[in-house]
Amino acid sequence: MDFFLDSADVETIENMYATGLVDGVTTNPSLIAKSGQNFFTVLKQISKTVKGPISAEVTATDSKNMIAEGKKLAKVSKNIVVKLPLTQEGLIACQHLTKLKIKTNVTLCFSSTQALIAARSGATYISPFVGRLDDINENGMELIREIKTIYTNYQFKTKILVASVRNIDHVRESALIGADVVTIPPKIFEMLYEHPLTEKGLMDFLNDWKKTKQKIL
Ligand code: E4P
Repeated sequence: MDFFLDSADVETIENMYATGLVDGVTTNPSLIAKSGQNFFTVLKQISKTVKGPISAEVTATDSKNMIAEGKKLAKVSKNIVVKLPLTQEGLIACQHLTKLKIKTNVTLCFSSTQALIAARSGATYISPFVGRLDDINENGMELIREIKTIYTNYQFKTKILVASVRNIDHVRESALIGADVVTIPPKIFEMLYEHPLTEKGLMDFLNDWKKTKQKIL
């Protein structure tokens, strides 16, 4: 399973990319607004560091302008993936950009039938938002299971990119289900390392090592 960072904070992305565990990045208009930076500047800076897919979202709502924006975004770097909302216009734009060999990430997916029509439209990635479903008392991970079944049934090539990740369990369950990618906010990414027994075990080893008065270097 690939790990993407769900962030538009260039410094954070650079620091976390250095771990060797980040395969790509997803951004959205809210994350760009939070960064306080120019969209194209942010994308150019991210693409200097990140060699894997970088999702950049269109803001037009009609297919003609989505296609125009998508073409412009794709020119920023060869690893830009054009993010399109899961609307009728978004899927028309998806089909068009796919024909032009521009990669797409169909976002704001909240049902398995939406995921089905996105795959039929040739999406490179589908982004189901698990956290936002949990927020309204639905089961986000159940949606991932359904999409996995449907995509396996029909051997769709569209990759399942689990989005709106709120906790470590979302990452764990994504891996158990066999999702292709999970996009993780930086604070959750850091939690992937953490376990109280790791911390305690390390303290115990280091204390015992001190008692030996030895050095490795
Ligand atoms: C994914 O591509 C989206 O940018 C993101 O995961 C949305 O997450 P949120 O529901 O925490 O805003």
